[in-house]
Amino acid sequence: MNLSLNNKTALICGSSQGIGLAVAQELAGLGANCVLLARNEEVLRTAVQSLSKKENQEHQYLIADFADPEKVRSVVYEFLNNRKIDILINNSGGPKPGLISTAATTEFENAFRQHVVNNQNLALAVIPGMKESGYGRIINIISTSVRVPLKNLGVSNTIRAAVASWAKTLSNEIGQFGITVNSVLPGFTKTERLNSMIENNAKQANRDVEQLRSEMEADVPLRRFGEPSEIATMVAFLATPAASYVNGISIPVDGGRTGTI
Ligand SMILES: NC(=O)c1ccc[n+]([C@@H]2O[C@H](COP(=O)([O-])OP(=O)(O)OC[C@H]3O[C@@H](n4cnc5c(N)ncnc54)[C@H](OP(=O)(O)O)[C@@H]3O)[C@@H](O)[C@H]2O)c1
Repeated sequence: MNLSLNNKTALICGSSQGIGLAVAQELAGLGANCVLLARNEEVLRTAVQSLSKKENQEHQYLIADFADPEKVRSVVYEFLNNRKIDILINNSGGPKPGLISTAATTEFENAFRQHVVNNQNLALAVIPGMKESGYGRIINIISTSVRVPLKNLGVSNTIRAAVASWAKTLSNEIGQFGITVNSVLPGFTKTERLNSMIENNAKQANRDVEQLRSEMEADVPLRRFGEPSEIATMVAFLATPAASYVNGISIPVDGGRTGTI
C-alpha cells in the first residue's frame, strides 16, 4: 500500500490547532511539505515547528482570515506563483451555534462565504496544477451534521450540507484528471471548538459542564470523544496514492455516533 507523500505539497487550512493541525502533523509524517493557513501568526509559527521533517521537507505558513475570501484568494495566488499544491485540505472554524428559527440572514451569508466561497476559490487556485501533474486530493473537513442535523447548530447544519453537495458535484467533474474530492465528517473531537460548545450549551441550559460532557460521551458507541489525530489519520489516508479509487464520498469519523447506515 503506497502511503508515501514524499515530494507532495499540501495546503492545510485552519491548521494552527485542533483537527487542522493534527492533519498537518499526519501529512508531514507521511513525507509531505506542508503549508499551514490560519489567522494567528504566533500559533502558526509554533505549529510549523511541530511538524516532522524526516524527508527533508519544507514547511511554511500563510496568514489569512476566511471571513475575507478575496484576501484568502490573493494570499494563496501570491504563494502559488509557479508552485503546485497536490493536496488541499479545506477547513476552518465552524459557524457559531444557535437555533435556525432565530438566525439572522447575515449569519447564513457569512457562513456561506467562509465555507463555500473559500472552498471554491481555493479549488480554482489549485486545480490547474493538479491537472498538470495528474494527481490531486481535495479533502473537506465538514461535520456529521451532513447526515443528521445537530441540535442548536442551525446555520452550521445548512452550510455543511451545501459544502458536501459542492464537494460531490466537483468530484464528478474533475475525477477524470486524477483529482479526487472527498469529505471527512468528524464527530465529537477533543478540540477548543468542542470545549467551547460544551461550555456554551451547559451555560444556556444551566447545567454542570462535566455532567453534560459525560452524557455526550455516553451517547457515542465507543463511549468517548475522538482525538484530533483519529480524524487526521482518515484525512491522511485519503490524501495518499493508496486512496486513488476513493472519490466523491463523505465519511463520518465519529466513534459510531451518527445514527445512519
Ligand atoms: N471538534 C469537533 O468536535 C468537531 C466536530 C464536527 C465538526 N467540526 C468542525 O471541524 C472544523 C475544525 O474544528 P476544530 O475542532 O479543529 O476547531 P478549532 O480547534 O477551533 O480550530 C479551528 C482552526 O481553524 C482556524 N480558523 C478559525 N477561524 C478561521 C478563519 N476565520 N480564518 C482562517 N482560519 C480560521 C483556527 O486558527 P486561527 O484562530 O489562528 O485562525 C484553527 O486553526 C470546524 O469546521 C468544526 O466545526 C469539529
